[in-house]
Amino acid sequence: MTCFDMDLLRKIDRIHPYPAKFPVGTAIKYIEKYTQENDLVFDPFLGSGTTLLATSVLHRRGFGTDVNPIAILISNFKLLSMNDDDIVALNNFVVDFTENYQDYISHTIPYSYASIDHWFCKESILVLSCIKSRISLLANDNQRTFCKLVLSSIINTVSNQEGDTRYAAIEKKYLSTSFVAETFVKKFRMILSCYVEFNKLRGPTEKNEAYLCDAKESDRLAPYGCVDFILTSPPYPNTYDYYLYHKHRMFWLGYDVKSTMRLEIGSRREYSSLKLPKEKFNRDLLQIFEVCNRLLKPRGRVAIIMGDGKIQGEKYDAKINLINILAPLKWKVVDYSFSNLDDTSRSFQQSYRTKDKREHVLVFEKENNNENI
Ligand SMILES: C[S@@+](CC[C@H](N)C(=O)[O-])C[C@H]1O[C@@H](n2cnc3c(N)ncnc32)[C@H](O)[C@@H]1O
Repeated sequence: MTCFDMDLLRKIDRIHPYPAKFPVGTAIKYIEKYTQENDLVFDPFLGSGTTLLATSVLHRRGFGTDVNPIAILISNFKLLSMNDDDIVALNNFVVDFTENYQDYISHTIPYSYASIDHWFCKESILVLSCIKSRISLLANDNQRTFCKLVLSSIINTVSNQEGDTRYAAIEKKYLSTSFVAETFVKKFRMILSCYVEFNKLRGPTEKNEAYLCDAKESDRLAPYGCVDFILTSPPYPNTYDYYLYHKHRMFWLGYDVKSTMRLEIGSRREYSSLKLPKEKFNRDLLQIFEVCNRLLKPRGRVAIIMGDGKIQGEKYDAKINLINILAPLKWKVVDYSFSNLDDTSRSFQQSYRTKDKREHVLVFEKENNNENI
C-alpha cells in the first residue's frame, strides 16, 4: 500500500475540472496490483493525467497521450518539478499582479478571437488578456505551465458560459474587473500552496511524460514490447465532446481547437451531430488497441475502464463491444468488475446517468509470444 497523503493527492488530482475522470485511488489500486517499482505504464487516453499522477507517486515510469492540449497542460502540471527559485518567482508574480493589475490593465491590448464578445464580457476579456501577457514575461516553461493551469481553471467561471457542461451564454451581472482578478489570485494562491506541500513529499518526476499525440500514433513514442501495464479509460461513446468542453480554454491559450476536434474519437459530434454508426467507434478503438498491443510486453496486462453509451438510439454495451473488438488481439480476460453509472461520477450529464448503464473494468493479458507485435 502507498503511504501517501491521499487527501492531498485527491486535491492535486482535482485541481482543474475534467469530465469523466477516474479517481486517483482507482489508478493507484490497479497500478499497485499489476506492476512493480520502476515498471513502465502507458495510458493512451490520458485526460487529466490521473494515471501519471499515480505512477509518479508510486515510483513507476509512465507515459501517456491525449489529443486535447488542456489534458496535456493538466497532466504536465501534475508532473511539474519546480525548485525554490520557481516558487519564489511565482509568489512574486501573484503579489505583483495583486498590487498592480489595475495599472497593467490600462496598458493591455484586449485579446480577440471569433465570437469572444458573445462568451466573455469586456471586463473579463481585459483581465484575462492582462494575465496572459504577464505570463509570457515569466522566466521559464515550468513557471508558465503553472500559471497557464491557473488561468485555464478559471476561464469558464469568468465567461458567460452557463456551467462547465452547459454550453449556453447567459448574463452574469457579478462579473467585474475586480471579481475576475480576485478569482485568479485566489485560485493561484490555493493551487500554489497545494503544489508546494505536494512537491515536498513526491520528489522527482522525470520518468513520466505526457504527449500531445493521437493514440493511433503512440507506437512512435516508445520501442515495441517495452510496456508492462496499460491503464486507460477511452471516451464513453456519444457522451462528451471534450474539445467543446475546453474550447474557450484552448482559444485563450492559443491551442488548435480544430485539430483536437478532428482527432477526438467517440464524441457527441460524431455520433449525435454527424450520426455516424457505432462501427466507426469500434474501428477507432481497435486501431488504438492494436498500437497498444505492439507496445505491450508478452504477458503484459491492460486495464480498460469504460462506460456504456447509446448510439443511434441503441444501447452500446461497452463490455460486449470491447470483448468483440479485441478478439483479433487474442488477449485473455483475467479480471472483470462493474458499477452502475447512476450512482457514480457527479460530473456526468443527467441524461447519461440512466439506470441501465454500467461502467465496466476489464483486465486483459497479452499472450506469451510475439505473434501479434
Ligand atoms: C474518459 S477521458 C480520460 C479520463 C482520464 N482517465 C482521467 O482520469 O482524467 C477520455 C480522453 O480521451 C481523449 N481522446 C479522445 N480521442 C483520442 C485520441 N484519438 N487519442 C488520444 N486521446 C484521445 C479525450 O480527449 C479525453 O481526454
